[in-house]
Amino acid sequence: MAVEQLHYGTVAKLFHWVIVALLTVQLPLGWLMPDIHRDMQPGQAMSLHISIGLTVLILIVVRFGWRLTHPVAPESNLPGWQRISSELVHWLLYLVVFLTTMTGWIFASMRGWSLSLFGIIPLPGLVGQGSQFGRAVGGYHHSLPWVLVGLIALHVAAALVHLFYYRDGVMRRMLPQVLR
Ligand code: HEM
Ligand code: HEM
Repeated sequence: MAVEQLHYGTVAKLFHWVIVALLTVQLPLGWLMPDIHRDMQPGQAMSLHISIGLTVLILIVVRFGWRLTHPVAPESNLPGWQRISSELVHWLLYLVVFLTTMTGWIFASMRGWSLSLFGIIPLPGLVGQGSQFGRAVGGYHHSLPWVLVGLIALHVAAALVHLFYYRDGVMRRMLPQVLR
């Protein structure tokens, strides 16, 4: 059993803020890129969306592994309900980011596209072209980003309430050393 630390370390903070930065680009890119038509091949915006999305997938999986092997104790002054609800939202964020990336990958595979990470590393399709299963599961890629946005809104609102209302140390736990 890994020993719980009292603060997030540099690696955990780096994972957190790099993923925040990538999602800040990825969500608007998803909604603004041109719609897909039958038999169409991915254009530049879609290829970028796929590469950023797959990068987020790799980072969230590695980050989750890091989280399991480097557990951090919740802020000690939090009331029980805040401890439980924040843990719940954190686990849901990991889960929904993962599901969003996987449904995107399944959807793109179902289109029969050849996928790659920034045109350098080729990636396999997860289902066959035109697969019914791929179409059904990939369809969730339209709604999951909204679930993710809802969770992020809750999470950021909670962080801001701690920063400006409770004025406790919760926000500082995730800030780089120089800003604390
Ligand atoms: C966390 C990462 C991701 C986020 C936040 C995200 C977000 C989005 C959003 C908001 C849309 C627009 C949906 C709509 O118009 O209803 C979209 C579309 C799409 N995404 Fe992602 N995406 C992610 C990862 C991926 C990955 C990893 C892939 C493929 C490997 C992918 C492939 C696609 C495709 C093919 C579409 C077009 C779907 C369509 O127009 O029918 N996405 N994504
Ligand atoms: C400006 C936006 C954001 C702010 C200010 C923020 C702030 C924070 C803070 C202060 C913590 C530490 C909470 C604690 O000590 O209990 C935290 C943890 C966390 N944040 Fe964010 N966050 C932001 C965006 C995001 C986004 C977009 C995600 C989506 C993946 C995310 C996922 C997480 C997760 C999973 C944790 C828990 C880390 C762990 O214990 O493994 N955050 N965030």
